[in-house]
Amino acid sequence: MKKSFITRREFLIGGAAAFAAAGMPRFVAASDATGASLPLIGSAPVLMNPAERTMDVVFALNGEASGWVDIAKSPDMKGAVRVYSGEGPVMRVCDKFAVVRIAGLRPATRYWYRIGADRIELENGYKPWNRGAETDERIYSLMTLGAERDGSFCVMQDTHSVPEVVDTVFGGIAACKPSVVVWNGDARNFYRTADDAVGTFLKPHPNYPAYAAETPILFLNGNHDYRGRFALHLNDLVPFRCPIERKREYSTLGRNFVQRIGDIALIGLDTGEDKQDTNPRMGGIFRMTKYRELQTRWLAEEIEKPAVKTAKFKVAFCHIPLFDPRTNENPGDVLPDDDDPRYKHPWAAWQRTCANMWGPLFAKAGVCLVCTGHQHRYRYDAPSAERTWTHIVGGQRDVIEGRVADGRLVVKVHDCENGRIVFDKEFE
Ligand SMILES: [Fe+2]
Ligand SMILES: [Fe+2]
Repeated sequence: MKKSFITRREFLIGGAAAFAAAGMPRFVAASDATGASLPLIGSAPVLMNPAERTMDVVFALNGEASGWVDIAKSPDMKGAVRVYSGEGPVMRVCDKFAVVRIAGLRPATRYWYRIGADRIELENGYKPWNRGAETDERIYSLMTLGAERDGSFCVMQDTHSVPEVVDTVFGGIAACKPSVVVWNGDARNFYRTADDAVGTFLKPHPNYPAYAAETPILFLNGNHDYRGRFALHLNDLVPFRCPIERKREYSTLGRNFVQRIGDIALIGLDTGEDKQDTNPRMGGIFRMTKYRELQTRWLAEEIEKPAVKTAKFKVAFCHIPLFDPRTNENPGDVLPDDDDPRYKHPWAAWQRTCANMWGPLFAKAGVCLVCTGHQHRYRYDAPSAERTWTHIVGGQRDVIEGRVADGRLVVKVHDCENGRIVFDKEFE
């Protein structure tokens, strides 16, 4: 029997009606609790993993689909190129979210884009039918990173998906209008399901539905972001950075980054869990010790490259603090189970092992500032004879802002809850 055939162009124009005429089953749209059908595209786009030549665009879906991005060099979208979700031999089809990696971009260049998705029905669980596209007609813009552009950064940490905290912090970031946001971990307590991650990253607060549609986020795991069944697959939704950024031996370092915005080199590191790999509470599934050592070798190489060497200002980020002046705070190196009567808690309040490995490399590279979180309370640690870099622990409702003005790096810590600036310093 001759099969019905409709070209891609025809179904984009004719949609469901064309398929009904061809005798094919209609797609049944996902519906909400009231039975009303939901649009296929479930959120505004979230820009992740910004770089000089690549950018990831992630958005929520309400139904099985393959998401895509149309990207162009002008806001009229003339000559737009469509990039689909998934880089392998098959487009990625998912009913929760789409992850589109755009490659081949130019550094320090502005582009315009919009998102859409093709509904994919897998008839009887295996036979794929493309049921037509839905498009979000809004045009957004994005700008790639690079030394040849101006820019600023904001840092947020420890929002833990608490609505009031997210609302407060996003308000503070919106006022700063940064070029990028370093999301410095503990975005949620744990991730049981994909919906937990969709809520946290793609629909974090109704007051800011397009919070990262034009301001990309550089995400670094906090200890909590390693917890829960879906946390084991968090890179499905919050993808690891593009593999071209690192050598093969560092292929597992998907969160680490060195990126330039103008005179600033941003250096991202992952302090991992706040408990020892040998702690019985961790189930024996963690390899943070080796992970931190591998990052040390990576960092030692990265600081010798031009992206760091030619930057006037070097700023590093990681979730767990690398210093604490208090002697009763657990430094995260108590074997085997983090328990020691000298310390208040049986988990790391700060990371002495990472400090010992990374601190000398920061000094060698001339890192002026290290931004951390984890303790939920702001603290400033001035440089000392042993530590050449300023250390800021961002509180839960604080935003750390950095921007270059008149050849100086101006760093402010905004206490977004009380509308105060609690730290204001210039680096030369
Ligand atoms: Fe936290
Ligand atoms: Fe934490």
